[in-house]
Amino acid sequence: MHEKSLRESIASLKRERGAVIMAHNYQRTEVQDIADFAGDSLELAREARQNDAGVVVFCGVHFMAETASLLAPEKVVLLPDENAGCPMADMADASAVLEMKNEHPGAVVICYVNSTAAVKAVSDACCTSSNAVDIVGRVPRDREIIFVPDRYLGAQVMKVSRREMHLWPGYCPVHNRFSAELISSGKDLHPEAVVMVHPECVEEVCDAADQVLSTGGMCSFAAGSNATEFIVGTEPGLLHRLRKENPSRKFIPMLEEAVCSDMKLCTLEKIRDALDRLSPRIVVDESTAKRAAVSVMRMFEDGPITPVEEL
Ligand code: 13P
Ligand code: SF4
Repeated sequence: MHEKSLRESIASLKRERGAVIMAHNYQRTEVQDIADFAGDSLELAREARQNDAGVVVFCGVHFMAETASLLAPEKVVLLPDENAGCPMADMADASAVLEMKNEHPGAVVICYVNSTAAVKAVSDACCTSSNAVDIVGRVPRDREIIFVPDRYLGAQVMKVSRREMHLWPGYCPVHNRFSAELISSGKDLHPEAVVMVHPECVEEVCDAADQVLSTGGMCSFAAGSNATEFIVGTEPGLLHRLRKENPSRKFIPMLEEAVCSDMKLCTLEKIRDALDRLSPRIVVDESTAKRAAVSVMRMFEDGPITPVEEL
């Protein structure tokens, strides 16, 4: 089907179903363009919680749709391609996290939102790349902290917050492709450019960059900056939003090939089919969902973060 008629079918099915379409910043450009809301993990989680549509088409990866479903179990949450996973989220399993917790009694477990619902359900609070430093800052100083699953985001938080943490050895295979050499060759070609990288990048990349930011953070930073050129060290899908919101600025991908293939599985055809069939639907079992929601909700609340069993 032609793209225009696909877009029309999606619009009419969306009205029929009372649905909202949410897309992560790494989605294909045509998917971002038809979304009612595009954003980073925190912005999407917040929107999933507040939006009153009964059906949410989540154009992203599995853990994101799961998080939306945990926050609003009464809604129908659709993931247009259910094979869209996150290799980093799959690097931590709940029983191994519990073992680590048993080795550090009284420790607070902070899990990056890029994790399964089962891991969130054994954690004490969740965080995203935009609020990780604030969340860790709410853990009382006398507490040990276990941070799962991203060792590089964890290392970055340790550095900024000057806190020691036990780091889970997970990582993002996409962000692992960026290097300090790519930053210096980019700087040779674009000496005036500001280098922005995602905190999932390895430490030497974060150290060599001018700014370490979530995808939403990169959008706000670029919009408020006096600079006109930016080298972007994250999945190149973000460049679409950056360019759309800042037409007079130049954005250069640090590595065009650093594509998250899971994020690209969602297409307009699959969105149309998901709306038509109300499937694939993401549902989390009730007891896991309830406990995982406690960790996620703590992100949106204030106050000290101690182990959930002490609440
Ligand atoms: P953001 O929350 O910064 O968009 O990151 C999500 C992600 O999966 C990065 O790889
Ligand atoms: Fe997961 Fe990395 Fe893809 Fe983000 S870019 S969804 S962390 S594999």
